[in-house]
Amino acid sequence: QIPLILDGDPGTDDLLAWMWVLALPHRARVLGISAVNGNVTLDRTTANALAFLDHVGAPDIPVHAGAKAPLGKDEPPPGDGAFAESGLGDLVLAPSARQAASHDAVGWMAQTLRSMPVRTVTILATGPLTNLALLRATAPDAYARIGRIVAMGGSFGPLPPNFVRRGNVTPFAEFNFWMDAAAAQSVLNGGVPVVLAPADVTHQLISTPTRLAAARALPKFGEEVARMLHAPYHLDKPKFHTEGAFLHDPTAVAGLFHPDLFETVRAQTHIVTEGTGIGAGLLLPDGAGNVEVMVRVKDTDAYYTRLFTELAAHYR
Ligand code: BDR
Ligand code: CA
Repeated sequence: QIPLILDGDPGTDDLLAWMWVLALPHRARVLGISAVNGNVTLDRTTANALAFLDHVGAPDIPVHAGAKAPLGKDEPPPGDGAFAESGLGDLVLAPSARQAASHDAVGWMAQTLRSMPVRTVTILATGPLTNLALLRATAPDAYARIGRIVAMGGSFGPLPPNFVRRGNVTPFAEFNFWMDAAAAQSVLNGGVPVVLAPADVTHQLISTPTRLAAARALPKFGEEVARMLHAPYHLDKPKFHTEGAFLHDPTAVAGLFHPDLFETVRAQTHIVTEGTGIGAGLLLPDGAGNVEVMVRVKDTDAYYTRLFTELAAHYR
């Protein structure tokens, strides 16, 4: 059972990622959630996290509100509109009556990491990496106690056949790293081991009609899972000409619990922090590098089968 902190910006696919984690109580113990600005503003990502936990019956997990804007900014730029103004796409969740446990997610993470044995806590990061970069800057001793960061973000190339662009925000950049490129650069080069699910790998996973039908057939939350899988279709279709939506944040969960599904490359990475290419990633294979970049899904059907089987076994 891995002690886990969920850091994200829900965001429909963050919620699907968390739903998958919570379906595996024998593998992960969730210490809490740190919300961050991203898809939508911090107040909404925090409220969505609380509403989601009520919905799936896990109201005891504390939610801490974190950074309300990327590093060095007072106000957040607009989100990517991927999941409507609510951040939930077509998902309807009853608002929670509960409040955030604190508005100092970074302080809470520091305290939690100091209270746990060194290098035992994994962070699952599915939004811009602002909270983690702030933790590194303000509490380096606590940051160094992190065991591993498993994150979704970035785009490194090369461009797969039939693809016209790498990024879902700019032709070069994926949303999380584009939103806070400086934070991504800091965390990827912060000394803590990182496993990364970049857009290059999440773009190999598409919500085909067969997969959506399998989602709908789940014993519980089926229609909602299908909606979550298909949520960014309206953005992906015009940019990438796909016949389905890509699957981003759950792929970090898959990288953590199902590493056999992926080819990875150990590397040094650099994230462009200004100019036209902001958010784009550069990768240099290096066996001693501290980032393990997921580069290929070996069997995409097997990926969805594991997701559906594990959801079906827990949510009934
Ligand atoms: C990332 O951006 C958001 O839209 C998703 O939640 C995911 O974390 C994909 O680029
Ligand atoms: Ca996200």
